[in-house]
Amino acid sequence: MNQIKIFSPATVANVSCGFDVLGFCLDNIGDEMVITKTEEKGIRITKIIGADLPFEAEKNVASVSALALYNHANPDCGFDIEIYKNIKPGSGIGSSSASASGSVFAINELLGRPYNALQLSEFAMKGEAIASGCEHADNIAPGIFGGFTLVKNANPLQILPLPTPSNLYAVIIHPQIEIKTSESRAILPKQIELKNAITQWANVGSFVHALHTNDYQLLSDSLNDVVIEPYRSQLIPYFNKVKDNALKAGALGAGISGSGPSIFALCQGIDTANKVEQAITEVYAKTDISFNTYVSKINTEGIRIVNSE
Ligand code: HSE
Repeated sequence: MNQIKIFSPATVANVSCGFDVLGFCLDNIGDEMVITKTEEKGIRITKIIGADLPFEAEKNVASVSALALYNHANPDCGFDIEIYKNIKPGSGIGSSSASASGSVFAINELLGRPYNALQLSEFAMKGEAIASGCEHADNIAPGIFGGFTLVKNANPLQILPLPTPSNLYAVIIHPQIEIKTSESRAILPKQIELKNAITQWANVGSFVHALHTNDYQLLSDSLNDVVIEPYRSQLIPYFNKVKDNALKAGALGAGISGSGPSIFALCQGIDTANKVEQAITEVYAKTDISFNTYVSKINTEGIRIVNSE
């Protein structure tokens, strides 16, 4: 195999209660990347379509993660990377993570799969770190493992793949304002009140239990964020109205996707998901903010090969 085209999906990190630890993978929105093996050694970004991102290997998240793998594997060849971005940088649905994970996934395939999913996640974190200012894996893990994941520990990296209830759908609304992850991390408090910590870790535990037991009511009760949302929601225009409309239309819960500005809702069944999409569309449709919406099944496969030759 000398060339591979992959689909690297968007992901939702935090999932309300699980800041920096929980995430899930979307199905129908993501980037495509074409990686070609070359005789010339090294890693090169040769094409970027759909976003204004750096071509320098040490500045682009896709090549930074690829270099981490490449320097470890030390293969007798090089790789050219073409990036076709559909996930807007700064959208809150794992744009940098999709690039960072996609390149290492594809190169691993071209090298005959010397690394497992956990090792690929470690390489991908090196790229993610330059976008957000810190190494976190809550977008990377669901992209590489698929479904829902819990990052048990960032260093050493430990990832727990979690079950996905089969009738669960996500609705995303992306208001087209850019929020940089590094900036939305900077506004967070360094310390939190014990009573909020207790609420939050109870919610993370019950959310994980709900996934294991297919308990949609418990899942709904767990989708609350008393630690991060009060701060970050102020950066997102009409956040409370969107959340309110989503819940009224039957969503199990709604919250900020990653560091925003996208807002996600989880729904039981496609019919409810479609109603929720309509209800939240109404909020931004009345404003001058451009936006996109997506309804997606939870993607249990993660990054996938489109074709190879
Ligand atoms: N957990 C991260 C954050 C995800 O919320 O800052 C964004 O990349």
